[in-house]
Amino acid sequence: MNICVIGSGYVGLTTAAVLAELGHEVNCIDKNKQKIDMLNNGKVPIYEPGLKELIDKNYNRLTFTDSLDDYIKRASVVFICVGTPSLQDGSTDLSYIEAVIDELANRIHSYKTIVTKSTVPPGTNEWIYNKLLEKGVSPELFNIVSNPEFLREGSAIHDMFHADKIVVGLRSGDHQSLTVLQKIYTGINAPYVITSLNGAEMIKYASNAFLATKISFINEISRICEAFQVDVNDVAKGIGLDPRIGPHFLQAGLGYGGSCFPKDVKSLERTALSKNIQPYLLQAVQTVNETQIDIYIEKLKTLFSDFTNLKIAVLGIAFKANTDDTRYSPAERFIRHLSQLDCEIHAYDPQAKLQNPPRNVMQKESITAAIRDADCVVIATDWNEFKQLDWLEVKQLMKGTIIFDARNCLERSKIEKHGLHYVGVGRG
Ligand code: NAD
Ligand code: UGA
Repeated sequence: MNICVIGSGYVGLTTAAVLAELGHEVNCIDKNKQKIDMLNNGKVPIYEPGLKELIDKNYNRLTFTDSLDDYIKRASVVFICVGTPSLQDGSTDLSYIEAVIDELANRIHSYKTIVTKSTVPPGTNEWIYNKLLEKGVSPELFNIVSNPEFLREGSAIHDMFHADKIVVGLRSGDHQSLTVLQKIYTGINAPYVITSLNGAEMIKYASNAFLATKISFINEISRICEAFQVDVNDVAKGIGLDPRIGPHFLQAGLGYGGSCFPKDVKSLERTALSKNIQPYLLQAVQTVNETQIDIYIEKLKTLFSDFTNLKIAVLGIAFKANTDDTRYSPAERFIRHLSQLDCEIHAYDPQAKLQNPPRNVMQKESITAAIRDADCVVIATDWNEFKQLDWLEVKQLMKGTIIFDARNCLERSKIEKHGLHYVGVGRG
């Protein structure tokens, strides 16, 4: 099939590469000319494991352009993958989606299936449909489908090929689009959940809100564990073995970040409030998350009486491992909070870059450079290379002895056997 993907970010580029691998002709469109130039020069603007290789492999079925004009005529399917960030009040900024509708409206002259992959609040796809009609597009020339995306950054390609479900939201009376979607995804072996447009939109928000709830739950439990000298990892393991609870998303730490959980939980809260529904749980989830970094800063303050002459190495800047994404990164927020204590901070991340760091924060090019002469090493992102550090070497490089595990990802015994002190929150 001939497919246009509008928006070539984490979701758009992954979708395009996977669809090309499935055998489709895919045209990637992005209004950011710099991104398109990079892609046309064989470079991938984001770090996502396996993405460059998949794009290179399917180069003959992929094109990259900054204008819809060239390809929209030929496409029978259009995927919308533009960003849907938060507005100041927490509701969703739909201006990028609106811009796409404007651009599409006067270019639809043959039948298109328009598939929304961007995460949008309930009611948005129905609104897109009506907008296109208002702009004069004939209802015979298009259908709109909600097909939310569930990939995780860092394992995006794997997640798309091994999806646990394909959610398809259809307008009532749309008897064509499901077959189109099934044809597009031939080769991906996942159960279909077929629902209304609003239903698909709600599944996406409920999914992210539930995962965020699990994280805030275990973070609150870790605070209670701290008071009773209990290791929260034991508790997570103990409760996670119950199949009704499950082992995933029970890793306590600095809280959830990234471009999705924070904005989506907030957006769902706003959606509920717009219908006079009090979202008690969603509000509590966010309160725990927003205060999680303070808990770690307070714990650090119990370890040193004066921060002014300290050198602290912070390992991790990205919002999670295996990505260069720093959008709403807890690690970056932690660094900024810590910098207010006037210590010297040496930060390191294998992929992510600090934007406009405070004057007392320096980003180092290697772990060794970051930890040399440090009084304390903080693990702020759970990259594998931090979990696998040679702790004897770390001990020899550091001035102090404290390893502060803000991601609960290290084994205390491996660290303490070299004379270092392991400190976590809720780790007994
Ligand atoms: P992103 O910011 O990485 O990419 C969005 C891209 O859209 C940008 O490159 C931007 O230049 C482009 N764009 C904006 N307006 C455009 C227009 N009018 N025409 C062409 N291009 C335009 O965003 P993302 O992380 O890929 O997220 C996209 C959507 O997918 C969001 O709604 C997000 O919530 C959702 N989502 C993201 C993830 C994820 O892991 N990042 C996972 C699932 C769903
Ligand atoms: C998340 C969801 O997992 C995807 O299913 C969804 O498609 C995506 O959001 C989205 O809608 O954009 P992502 O943000 O890439 O994916 O990353 P996650 O692995 O979910 O992690 C999110 C945050 O939670 C990270 O900061 C991570 O460190 C934190 N986290 C995760 C924890 O603190 N504890 C955990 O146990 C798991």
